[in-house]
Amino acid sequence: MARILITSALPYINGVKHLGNLAGSMLPADVYARFQRARGHEVLYICATDEHGTPAELAAAAAGQDVMTYCEEQHRLQHDIGRGFGLSWDWFGRSSLPQNARLTQHFAEVLEDNGYIEERTDKLVYSIDDKRFLPDRYIQGICPICGFPDARGDQCDNCGSLLDPIDLKEPYSVISGSRNLEVRDSRNLYLVQTKLQDAIRKWVDAKPEFSSLARSIAYKHLDEGLIDRGITRDLSWGVPVMRGGQPRTGFEDKVFYVWFDAPIEYIGATEEWADATGGDWARWWREDQGAKDVRYVEFMGKDNVAFHTVSFPATILGSGEPWKSVDNLKAFNWLNWYGDKFSTSNGRGVFMDQALELLPSDYWRWYLTANSPEHSDTAFTWEQFQGAANKDLADVLGNFVNRILKFAEARFEGKIPAGGEPGPLEDKLFAQVSEKLAELTAQFEAIEIRKTAQALRALWVVGNEYLQEAAPWTAIKTDPDRAAVIVRTAINLAALYARVSAPIIPDAAEKIAMAVGEPYPPTWPSPDARIELSRLEAGRAFSVPEVLFRKIEDDQVAAWTERFAGKS
Ligand code: 2FM
Ligand code: ZN
Repeated sequence: MARILITSALPYINGVKHLGNLAGSMLPADVYARFQRARGHEVLYICATDEHGTPAELAAAAAGQDVMTYCEEQHRLQHDIGRGFGLSWDWFGRSSLPQNARLTQHFAEVLEDNGYIEERTDKLVYSIDDKRFLPDRYIQGICPICGFPDARGDQCDNCGSLLDPIDLKEPYSVISGSRNLEVRDSRNLYLVQTKLQDAIRKWVDAKPEFSSLARSIAYKHLDEGLIDRGITRDLSWGVPVMRGGQPRTGFEDKVFYVWFDAPIEYIGATEEWADATGGDWARWWREDQGAKDVRYVEFMGKDNVAFHTVSFPATILGSGEPWKSVDNLKAFNWLNWYGDKFSTSNGRGVFMDQALELLPSDYWRWYLTANSPEHSDTAFTWEQFQGAANKDLADVLGNFVNRILKFAEARFEGKIPAGGEPGPLEDKLFAQVSEKLAELTAQFEAIEIRKTAQALRALWVVGNEYLQEAAPWTAIKTDPDRAAVIVRTAINLAALYARVSAPIIPDAAEKIAMAVGEPYPPTWPSPDARIELSRLEAGRAFSVPEVLFRKIEDDQVAAWTERFAGKS
């Protein structure tokens, strides 16, 4: 049994996330966690809300709430929606809790002791009317690169360029709209990444498992040459800057930059989990306390990769302490909405809360796995979604399970029938299922998300082909023993489907498992289909589950297309 630590990128606290956020980190992480638990491994799947930084403060202000209350409410909301999608986090933490603050302050202290943090003077924009500095998103103006009128201080949403607030043209304060701004000096802490460049490159070189997307982003940054990063901000909401247990002189009105403390919250959230459950967080994170044999896998969208292949490793490596670092970083491209970005303000695309109002989570989990934005950007379309639900889930899996159980209930009184011996058709089935099961297991192990869905579908198709060929409804008329073998084998196959489908569509898998009297959550089957398809004993009672998947109708698609198209 191995120990597998899984984290998915921490969603920002500022509002409900869209399907792209789900598809590019939390869902694949969950699928992988469920698979590895079924394999019998000890899995710890950690996520949390990323609660600091200007996005949180601005969203709270827009909602008319103090930032702490806002974060509490939004955390609960994101937690409940995630659970609604079946996300099986072992812990869903909060980066604004004391565990993360203590760890962040600790890292800053050791990094400084090791010569990797320095105080420097920045030229920052100060708002005279607001009586404060305007970091990151508190300032907007014209993008110096593309001329976009509402570029944010830290980034232009139009051309994607990372910006320095003082370069914006015609800047104004987002708080008051005031243009009464000036540039002032401000002392800040810098993480001297230039000194760690070689160590980080060696570290990336030693990570052969990283997805090619993750590697290419990491090397792009390393090849361009790392820059030192300011890790403090003139804000009040965040982790206070301390030194030796006291507020650091000159930094009383500053906090650590959100991107400095956010990845540390992977560890912080594990500590929260340990505090709440009596678990041992150090066993997962400290190589001197047992974490050497942990396998750590991170899931995230491509925009987060640089922070996890450069900045966070700089924190970990620079500390000189034996922290566990990631073994496999699985990065994802974008899920777009018909080739455009999801947009809250424009009402374009489906957000996680809306999705659950339309359909149960398994529909979304299946579509977003089968169409994962894994190796390229991917466009969501309702037509594809309808096809995936109707063809794969309803026609292939749902039809198989309902058809065989209904037939068996009518002809064998709701009990798995005895009699007969497997024949050539069963031999063929055992061979096909063994082969496809091996393929499925390999794809899960390799975290090839789309191929996992393809392999699972191929396994479902085999069952339909078998039923079609074996035709128990014909056999029953002339050879009841033959019909019994087919029904018994097919019900075993339904039970196997519950086990292997559970990582992707857990609710349907549970319904099937309950119908055939199998335990849930399931364990992963052995590779030998002959054994696995002869497990359920004759005489065992089963029931017919309600229809597993209802088809999505054309008029629903038409209505949803219009509703979620967004304002042009
Ligand atoms: O891009 C985002 O949504 C960030 N909140 C991800 C943070 S991941 C980790 F570092 F915390
Ligand atoms: Zn721009």
